[in-house]
Amino acid sequence: MSKILAFAGSNNSKSINHQLVKYVSSLIKDHELTVLDIRAWNVPMYSIDMDPDEIPEQITTLMNLIKEHDAFIISSPEHNGSTPAFLKNILDWLSRRSEGIFVRKPVFLMSTSPGKGGGANNMKQLIHSLPYQHASIASTFSLPSFYDNFKDGAVIGEHLGELHESVAEFKEAL
Ligand SMILES: Cc1cc2nc3c(=O)[nH]c(=O)nc-3n(C[C@H](O)[C@H](O)[C@H](O)COP(=O)(O)O)c2cc1C
Repeated sequence: MSKILAFAGSNNSKSINHQLVKYVSSLIKDHELTVLDIRAWNVPMYSIDMDPDEIPEQITTLMNLIKEHDAFIISSPEHNGSTPAFLKNILDWLSRRSEGIFVRKPVFLMSTSPGKGGGANNMKQLIHSLPYQHASIASTFSLPSFYDNFKDGAVIGEHLGELHESVAEFKEAL
């Protein structure tokens, strides 16, 4: 049994990526899932001028959780075709303390948006950038048109099959 940490890289109190993370986590029954809610986090903007020993408490918490878990589900919004500043800032903080904090552990990378792109542009960027921190992208899933394809807390319709395939691919990597 693997310990899986799941979170959405959003500070939107009504985050659709957080809703997707909660649902997908509920599909993985045979592992220990922790859904981390970081929506209300207020992490200072990283600056190279900061004392390297003064890491914000929330970042230290996240670093420790990452060390304690075997695999990750991360769902990211897309802002202006790119990674939202909120998540990028957290990733930049994570990159300062440790050499490759994810240490080749598997990541199931997801995205969703109300638009037809489903955040796929940012997904491409994260597929490129997360391995800088030694994340091993085991599987991906992008849900377009969130409000058409997610009802009553669950993915519905034509993307469900693809989601189950992506979940299976992630589980194979555990
Ligand atoms: C500043 C800003 C930029 C956005 N840019 C994009 C975009 O490039 N592509 C997209 O699909 N949605 C974009 N959106 C809409 C987001 O997908 C939408 O706000 C979504 O709810 C974000 O996910 P979240 O609720 O998990 O934070 C943008 C929203 C904001 C506030």
